[in-house]
Amino acid sequence: MSNTYIGLMSGTSIDSIDAAAACFERGQFKLLGSYSQSIPKAMKQAILNLCQPETDSVQLYAETDHQLGELFATAALALMAELNLNKEDIAAIGSHGQTVRHSPPADDSIAFSQQIADPNIIAARTGCPVVADFRRADMAAGGHGAPLVPAFHQQLFSDSNFNRAIVNIGGIANITILPALDSKVNHQCIGYDTGPGNMLLDSWVHIHLNNPYDSNGDWGAGGTVDNQLLAQLKCHDFFSQPAPKSTGREMFNQNWLDQQLLNFKQVEPQDVQATLVQLTAQSIADQIDALEIRVDQVYICGGGAFNATLMNALARALPLSTLATTSALGLEPCWVEACAFAWLARQRVKGKPGNLPAVTGAYKESILGGIYLP
Ligand SMILES: Nc1ncnc2c1ncn2[C@@H]1O[C@H](COP(=O)(O)OP(=O)(O)O)[C@@H](O)[C@H]1O
Ligand SMILES: [Mg+2]
Repeated sequence: MSNTYIGLMSGTSIDSIDAAAACFERGQFKLLGSYSQSIPKAMKQAILNLCQPETDSVQLYAETDHQLGELFATAALALMAELNLNKEDIAAIGSHGQTVRHSPPADDSIAFSQQIADPNIIAARTGCPVVADFRRADMAAGGHGAPLVPAFHQQLFSDSNFNRAIVNIGGIANITILPALDSKVNHQCIGYDTGPGNMLLDSWVHIHLNNPYDSNGDWGAGGTVDNQLLAQLKCHDFFSQPAPKSTGREMFNQNWLDQQLLNFKQVEPQDVQATLVQLTAQSIADQIDALEIRVDQVYICGGGAFNATLMNALARALPLSTLATTSALGLEPCWVEACAFAWLARQRVKGKPGNLPAVTGAYKESILGGIYLP
């Protein structure tokens, strides 16, 4: 059987569908190639509408599920063509889909997480088995169903001697703590969402400059952090909640930011951007500072790795750790998450668990995802 798997991922940023093909020979991971599929404006708007109870509908949900299934299949086929891979060369495609609502376990609400992009369509168009619906087995076992990337980070990025943190800065940021394997003290791998990553930055720059994101963080770099505003933003309950925890657009969005800014109308937009950069950096650094172990090395992945202003803010906030992107570990930051879903597909096919209960809060390890045959 083939050892090649494809991972398909679209995150909270809704910036693109990331496709990565990876091969797992004798336990060794190798990225074979990658492809980025742009998401048409109308589709992005439909997804954003689905993310809000005020603008969603069952009809829109079902139609977008279908259309995204086609687009995810297009991404997989483009990658296969680029790498000259036939359907027989692929063991399975792992498709995360697109999250349209995430409601983690809480006392006052029903827990669920909804990802769309019909895997039946992806299987039919590509001719490959597809693994999808990764989050709900973990949620059925009481977990958050998120984050799921820490198990992959643990496999790929753990070190014998150094305590490492892998920080994935997508729309939401999540952290994985990887204690040194040879340490005499047996610390567990933990991980959770730390709060907003790029999402508020993207939203704010879109309103003021009509750009999808602040390229390289240049606009934010010209602003001044407003410490009073920063202090207020940091009062959000999520930051002080104990792990396991996960979040999404439901909690951190433009409406929330607008509310926060009501008493800060005098703050210039560019200074708000600088403050949001600091919020992302500090909410990550605060978590690393609060750990029992000292983290020697911090590696960043996700699109936030390309925001130099954010990377500089993180370096300043983490003076005791070395800071680099996962490129230094041999995997480009933009492909880590898609690779994680290739790995999770492999776990499913091999009948192995994909969640880490210490991360998601589930009461047991679970085999994640359903298999959809072509
Ligand atoms: N060159 C860049 N400069 C600044 N920010 C960038 C750059 N490239 C990507 N990003 C940021 O990364 C985001 C996408 O990151 P990604 O890891 O794909 O997030 P998600 O998993 O939420 O889709 C973009 O929306 C943007 O905020
Ligand atoms: Mg993305």
